[in-house]
Amino acid sequence: MEYISKEDEQEILESYEPKRRKHVKNVMDLAVSLAEQYNADPRKAYVAALFHDIAKEMEIKDMVALLESSGIFIEREYHNKNILHGPCAAVIACEY
Ligand SMILES: [Fe+2]
Repeated sequence: MEYISKEDEQEILESYEPKRRKHVKNVMDLAVSLAEQYNADPRKAYVAALFHDIAKEMEIKDMVALLESSGIFIEREYHNKNILHGPCAAVIACEY
């Protein structure tokens, strides 16, 4: 069983700007290699890497709203893109 369709994977990849898309593809390759090395599920690693930067370009206020709508409350001092994009990506991936 795959965790994402090829069509959805392609749609997500195309949503990234070219430079970030290249980065995400490299992370996907590395994630699969690491998963195989450490006996984790490479399919999960592949999908996690696909989504990992999906929220990187969101506005901070939208990140906070997304997280709070999912019941995730993060202290204001941590409201910056470098911290919030990860949990936002997880929320988006779960909704896919
Ligand atoms: Fe990244």
